[in-house]
Amino acid sequence: MLDRNATSLDGKVAVVTGSGSGIGQSIAETFAAHGAKVVIIDKQEDLTRSVVKGIEERGGVALACPVDVTKPESITTLSSAALDTYGQVDVLVNNVGHFMPGAGPFLKTTENDWEAQYDINLKHIFRCTQALAPQMVERGSGSIINISTVETLRGIPGNSIYAAFKTGITAFTRCFALEVAPHGVRVNAIAPETTDTNQIPLARWIPERYQDKIPLMIPMGRFGRPDDHAGAALFLASDLSAWVTGITLPVDGGAITAGGFYRMEGNRWTNAPILADAGIHPG
Ligand SMILES: NC(=O)c1ccc[n+]([C@@H]2O[C@H](COP(=O)([O-])OP(=O)(O)OC[C@H]3O[C@@H](n4cnc5c(N)ncnc54)[C@H](O)[C@@H]3O)[C@@H](O)[C@H]2O)c1
Repeated sequence: MLDRNATSLDGKVAVVTGSGSGIGQSIAETFAAHGAKVVIIDKQEDLTRSVVKGIEERGGVALACPVDVTKPESITTLSSAALDTYGQVDVLVNNVGHFMPGAGPFLKTTENDWEAQYDINLKHIFRCTQALAPQMVERGSGSIINISTVETLRGIPGNSIYAAFKTGITAFTRCFALEVAPHGVRVNAIAPETTDTNQIPLARWIPERYQDKIPLMIPMGRFGRPDDHAGAALFLASDLSAWVTGITLPVDGGAITAGGFYRMEGNRWTNAPILADAGIHPG
């Protein structure tokens, strides 16, 4: 039987990039609530300080580290801050990412867009991992969690470059997981479906008059909340997942499982919404 302490992160140190808000914030706060000392990395200094304050007010331990992870020198700053303060890093969450640079039809994208997407979605993951994985390998334990997207598991028109680099995360996760598995270090990824954060504020994305239709847009009847991903991250960071490595875990309310199927009124389904709009119900 698995000990109930398997969910505990007591005595562990976690670095979470982009943890000043959104999914990263929820992951960092959840880790702190489960006993980890957490390093809050964000390019917005005020956010790092307010997240640390909130964690400390709840009795947790956290360190603010305001850096931009796309800058190579920042990686030295963040790894020194974490290792000098806490002596080791047990969990690294590479959470920073954005779909916007160069969003639109691929044929209209430029080399600058490609570089921007590489910088914000993949290169910093290589850098942070190279900075913090060696001490995990040396100690024979650690968990690295990369935040990808469901768009690595399906096509998304108008976001080819974003999806390409995010899918690079999935490939990197698999390959690096094998390299470090013999050293007791696990590497996994989380693939979020649309989640209500500052990056994708649902109140702005879905006009008010359509909000009551949200239960029809996703099998589990709602879009994601940052805490949905924090639950998956706690699983991947803790001993609950001691024998899990190399996976990309969709946290998506059933969206990928549904493929092209959508719910209609009356709990019926269609894979042809245009026919449903015309009153024809094939499902
Ligand atoms: N929200 C979604 O629907 C969704 C869906 C799929 C994947 N994701 C992925 O989840 C991750 C988190 O998304 P989110 O919606 O919480 O993002 P968000 O934009 O709401 O928050 C990201 C945080 O990271 C910080 N940040 C951005 N660039 C940074 C940099 N260069 N250095 C340091 N900090 C930086 C921001 O200041 C912000 O506090 C991203 O990798 C994103 O691609 C999100």
